[in-house]
Amino acid sequence: MLSVPSSLALALCVGIACDPGDPPVDSDSATAGEMESGPGESGPGESGPGESGPGETGDTGETGDTGETGETGETGDTGETGGDGELDLPADLYNYADPDLPAHFLSPAVVGFDNTPGDNPITDGGATLGRVLFYDTALSKNEKVACASCHQQGAGFTDPETFSEGFDGGLTGRNSMGLSNARWYPSGRFFWDERAATLEEQVLQPIQNEVEMGLTLAELVARVQERPYYDALFIDAFGDEEVTDDRIARALAQFVRAMASYRSRFDQGLSDAGSLGAPFANFTPAENQGKAIFLGAGGCAACHLAGPPPMPGGVFANSAILQPLEPLNNGLDGGLSNDDDGVGEISGEPTDNGLFKAPSLRNIAVTGPYMHDGRFDTLPEVVDFYNNGVQPHANLDPRLRGPNNQPRQLNLGPDERGALVAFLETLTDEALLEDVRFSDPFLD
Ligand code: HEC
Ligand code: HEC
Repeated sequence: MLSVPSSLALALCVGIACDPGDPPVDSDSATAGEMESGPGESGPGESGPGESGPGETGDTGETGDTGETGETGETGDTGETGGDGELDLPADLYNYADPDLPAHFLSPAVVGFDNTPGDNPITDGGATLGRVLFYDTALSKNEKVACASCHQQGAGFTDPETFSEGFDGGLTGRNSMGLSNARWYPSGRFFWDERAATLEEQVLQPIQNEVEMGLTLAELVARVQERPYYDALFIDAFGDEEVTDDRIARALAQFVRAMASYRSRFDQGLSDAGSLGAPFANFTPAENQGKAIFLGAGGCAACHLAGPPPMPGGVFANSAILQPLEPLNNGLDGGLSNDDDGVGEISGEPTDNGLFKAPSLRNIAVTGPYMHDGRFDTLPEVVDFYNNGVQPHANLDPRLRGPNNQPRQLNLGPDERGALVAFLETLTDEALLEDVRFSDPFLD
């Protein structure tokens, strides 16, 4: 679709290219076998067996007054997150269970994307517990880091550093990932190489990872049990104060799923226009031009908007997440064997080498650096890469190949590249990045 006028290319996109088509690999085979740790998270990584029965996720969430969970006197680390255990929580639980989603999140297709398991719905009490756990440095061996150290709200819940520093100063093997709209990633698999089959499984892995947080599950449970402020939070979440690793996983997963991004200028424009293709009234001419390039000549939509055909009215389910639905190779490196082969590191299959999950493009302007190894600091660098820098690779996705099977050359001019960046910046959701419900609940 290289030299096709963008209006025509958009029509193609609607008809053909935005369908996922035949996946280049069977994503099940990519991750079949034992869950092994990848370069980023080399811990014992296995989530424990579920310990709470299906009945235990009751919605007792409306009762407790978590505002009463007061000081503990257990002063620990005073890093950026966590702290001395004094919490600032609302008297009435915040609403996480029922966000005010716009119409383009409510179609049956988007509802079908939702990876929330039937036995772990988001409750206000569960997500509140998850919020405290997410910000609590007690979850790392020496109480130096929390989830939020590497998943910072103002940075779209990722880390502005290329690689993240773990509790003992070691660095992660990959760039941290933004967490916006993880709830709607349809396969429900997580990490750059998708080695975690569910979010409930994923959230326990950084805690056990030797670089990141360094606790065993038994140590984790003991840590949480010894913090007095958790009793009321577990009662609100699960009906009684029993601490299990399964409950910790459920609460963290609820909090991460609650991080819904739906209040960007892109969402406003889509709500008003009712269709992606129409110019958005709230966009500048450059932003609308960038949108047309994203959907058309740039070919970005073919992957980052792939999915079921649009609903009547032209709204794509994937506009909720703006994310390829499976790991792909986007031609960052030539050759078959690189330092990090992504899904291939897990499956051992050469056809999986170089395949990576792409995080959601939502809040992309604040989630840099970009790609699994954080190689690009800015969006203009990313766009330059897609313009003329895609490398040949045996597993390079066909959507990035031109005639003769070689990497395609977009040859966008400077104005077009700038417009594409301007469009990507409309995906920033300031309301989410500043939302008190997702902020650090610890006082100092
Ligand atoms: C020391 C930094 C660090 C800490 C602490 C950390 N993470 Fe991460 N997180 C990362 C990195 C790096 C990745 C990508 C690793 C990979 O794919 O190999 C990641 C990936 C993820 C993902 C996958 C997102 C996706 O779209 O696939 C989720 C979810 C996540 N982390 C949640 C958490 C939670 C919850 C905690 C706390 C229990 C946590 N993280 C603690 C660095 C960290
Ligand atoms: C063949 C499918 C495909 C196409 C076409 C494609 N991308 Fe990507 N994109 C990916 C994959 C896969 C990744 C993750 C690669 C990695 O980190 O190894 C990615 C990563 C990104 C990232 C970085 C995400 C992050 O959080 O680090 C941005 C930004 C991006 N793409 C924008 C674009 C734009 C803009 C276009 C159009 C010019 C485009 N992409 C075209 C598949 C694609």
